[in-house]
Order: sequence, then structure tokens, then C-alpha cells
Amino acid sequence: MNEDDQEWLECLASARAWVQEWAAEGVDGFSRLPTATKLQENPSPRLESAAPSSQVKAPKTAPVERPEPHRSAAAPVTLEAIRQELGECQRCGLCAGRQNIVFGDGHPRASILFIGEGPGQQEDEQGLPFVGRAGALLTQMIEKGMGIPRSDVYICNIVKCRPPNNRNPSPQEASTCRPFLDQQIDAVQPDVIVTLGKPAASLLLDREVAITRLRGTWQEYRGIPMMPTLHPAYVLRQYTAENRRAVWEDLQAALTRSQGR
Ligand code: URA
Repeated sequence: MNEDDQEWLECLASARAWVQEWAAEGVDGFSRLPTATKLQENPSPRLESAAPSSQVKAPKTAPVERPEPHRSAAAPVTLEAIRQELGECQRCGLCAGRQNIVFGDGHPRASILFIGEGPGQQEDEQGLPFVGRAGALLTQMIEKGMGIPRSDVYICNIVKCRPPNNRNPSPQEASTCRPFLDQQIDAVQPDVIVTLGKPAASLLLDREVAITRLRGTWQEYRGIPMMPTLHPAYVLRQYTAENRRAVWEDLQAALTRSQGR
């Protein structure tokens, strides 16, 4: 068995452990989403009901009121237009080592938008976010934990090109890519943003955060409720019941908030 096969087996075992844990907690299934209502040309998967309500935990803090609507009156720029503007980007040094730009993936009017750090090796090879080991866990969290198809959410990263050796993006790289991230948020107009890990939460909140303390508490980014949670790669490294439960609770809170409850 090669190293890749071994990794996938570990990943599957992780996913199985999650499901077994939920089963032990009394989760006996997840209702499927109702068919998305047709809305203009891009039906938004605004979420009605996905997880059993008995399992939905209230957010740790009171919901944050939106002081100002985050949606501008003008029609937002489309994701395609933003991708075009990005072009064969050479705005920072990360372009030197990349195979593919990893722009983002998912529903263009998703109710929930996830933000990670930056592409890893698999993502760089495939041009898609979260398709490696951490991606497999994130997909499980979304599909099994939240009960919605991954294609109903939107997933992107702070930076669109792979940092060498999977290091964190530098402040300069993050700020160079920031306008594209902000435009993606404007285009998708999510009801809730979920940041994965410390770098994404720190960038959006414009301060260095302690993610293990901040996670699970509602924040706000440009008028949009934001739920910081642990990065799936961290959860894979620190595969404790406490970390799995923390992410599960954070995602339930995000799902509930995205449904306007
Ligand atoms: N980790 C990230 O932060 N983003 C990806 O796309 C993959 C792994």
C-alpha cells in the first residue's frame, strides 16, 4: 500500500469515527435539503432544514445584529468576472511555485461561505479548494455533519496560489489577494461566513486571534455573521473528541444562523 492509499484509509477511518460518534449521541439521520427554490438564474441553496432540530445547538453568544446591509444596491460583480480580472495573476511571489490558481468552488449564491488558508499540493494540482485530506474531512463535515451537499456551499481561501511547503500565507501575500476574496464574498452574498483556522479568522478580524478560544463565538465581517472554527487539517492532526465536537457545534450554529433561526 502506498502513502496516498494509507492517507485515504486514515481519512475514511476519521470520517467513520465522526459518524459513529454522532450515532452514539443519538443522531439517527439527517434530512435532505428540499429542492432549492428557483431564484433568477442562480437558484440559491438557502437552507431550510438539514439537521435534526434536536441536534442543533444554539450559538454560544447572542446573534449579532447586522448594523448595515452588506449587499450593495448595484448588481455585484460575478464570480466569472472576478476570476477573469485575476487572470494569470503575478501580483505576488506565490505565482512562481504554483501549478494552478485555486479560485474557489461551489454555489455562486451559497448561503454559507467557507474560507481556508491557501491551497495545498492536491489543490494546486487540481485547481480546486479542499480536495486533499483536509478537504475530505471538510466535505464530510458539510455533507454528513450539516446534511447538505458540498455543492450547495461556496469554498475559497485567503490566497489563491499554494504557499511553498504549505506554510501560512504571509501578510503581504494575504493582503495582495484580499481584494479578490472580498469580491468573492460580495458576489456570493452569503448569509454566514465560516472561517477555517487561525489565519482566515485573523485576516478577516484584522487582529491576531487565538482560534481555540475564539471558535464558536459569533463575529462579524462587513455586516455578515462570521463563525470561526478549527481548520480541518488541525482536527486531523489533533483528532480528539473535544476538537471534533467543537467543529460540529460551530457548523450546527452556522447552519442554524444561515436558515435565519
Ligand atoms: N487547506 C486550506 O486552507 N485550503 C485548501 O484549499 C486546502 C487545504
